[in-house]
Amino acid sequence: MAETWKTYVDGRWVDTGEQIDVIDKYSGEVFAKVPKCDRDMVEEAILNAKSAFADFKKYPAHKRAEVLEKAYLKILDRQDEIAETICKEAGKAWKYSLNEVLRGAETFKFAAEEAKRIHGETIPLDASKFGENRRGYYFREPLGVVGAITPFNFPLNLVGHKVAPAIAAGNSVVLKPASTTPVTSLILAEILEDCGLPKGVFNVVIGSGSVVGDMIVTHPECKKISFTGSPEVGDQITKKAGIKKVTLELGNNSATVIDEDADLKKAAARCAASAFANSGQVCISLQRIYVHKNVLKQFEELFVEEVNKLKFGNPLEKDCDVGPMIEESEAERAETWVKEAVKEGAQVIAGGKREGRMMEPTVLTNVTDEMKVMCMEVFAPVVSIVSFDDYYEAVKLVENSDYGLQTGIYTNNIKKAYYAIDNLDVGGVMINDTSIFRVDHMPYGGNKMSGIGREGVKFAIEDMTNIKMVVFNIG
Ligand code: SIN
Repeated sequence: MAETWKTYVDGRWVDTGEQIDVIDKYSGEVFAKVPKCDRDMVEEAILNAKSAFADFKKYPAHKRAEVLEKAYLKILDRQDEIAETICKEAGKAWKYSLNEVLRGAETFKFAAEEAKRIHGETIPLDASKFGENRRGYYFREPLGVVGAITPFNFPLNLVGHKVAPAIAAGNSVVLKPASTTPVTSLILAEILEDCGLPKGVFNVVIGSGSVVGDMIVTHPECKKISFTGSPEVGDQITKKAGIKKVTLELGNNSATVIDEDADLKKAAARCAASAFANSGQVCISLQRIYVHKNVLKQFEELFVEEVNKLKFGNPLEKDCDVGPMIEESEAERAETWVKEAVKEGAQVIAGGKREGRMMEPTVLTNVTDEMKVMCMEVFAPVVSIVSFDDYYEAVKLVENSDYGLQTGIYTNNIKKAYYAIDNLDVGGVMINDTSIFRVDHMPYGGNKMSGIGREGVKFAIEDMTNIKMVVFNIG
């Protein structure tokens, strides 16, 4: 029997009359029903969040930190239940779901710590002759209502990356989670309510991008939009939002370069996990592997061996590595891109088949830069291997992308490492690791089509506050 949820607006659990079915992505069964919000409900949520902000902006830092610290502990208390929900609603393998819950808890812990160190600095105004006899400093103030729009691939932690810093800074939040994975957000609402977060500070509105998303983006009372999702939607948001702060965390066709001095065994194992965790549906999933020609054969053998070890199937099984994709249409799209590549000369050396949402971990060789599997974000369990004979050329090939989120480089040569660091227009370079490395307090975000701004709790807080300058005339 599907569990029926209410949604959380202004500290109340409410029904809207209409429901959205939440599908268990592996079994295909409806496992939960959640309320679908209309424009009136979104308006109510935003206006309530605005009035909650009037008080919450005065809520002291130590109390905001206390709520966030409690949330950290309560997420840990409920870790199995949340991981199971993520498994079902996102189709994410158990071990990665549990890992997400531990990271999600830590995101709240980091926010609890950061809440206590949101500060400004004094400015030596007399550094200018026009500033003589003045003393000044700046501090940071919360913005008001933060509109958060989150994707399906991390139903807890990517929600946490918007909600926890917003609360740490003293803002209120209206969250639109992905309609395919909304249940985890409702569990988070229960947790925040239990932790004593004042009513109206956190609100969840579930529904379509064209109704709920658009209202949040265009509403004058939403002072900041924090979005994670596709570049197409990100582009629309920048056009519709008007004059407000916008953070966009968009996609990538992430690459990793394996130079000839790499520890191939380690690199092959790490690359397999990086390409296929969450069925490749991670913005920093490994999609393009550039391997030095002298070690290509050896790397390919080791890599395919690692890929063949992956357990593909039911995400609820504790040893599962790769589960279903979020939608059958997405799996079909990925399969079509693989077929197109094969038609143009690519070779499938592992996987390649699909049934419903289940797309096998797939490895391609003989690809070209123009193929969709290379130049567009595949967001599926599909990875391509390309050989190179000049490291510096390989870095140029990596850079030849519309995206710029994170890149991995395997080399023990410091000069080569620095060449990549200095010449890649990306948000992060991982030396002796793949593109997928992330912990939740580091700055995270992309350049070019990969986005605007940075997340990672401290960095998100910077963008969720305004600087106010104060000057005393003491002359
Ligand atoms: C993302 O898909 O951008 C999030 C990656 C992560 O948090 O590991």
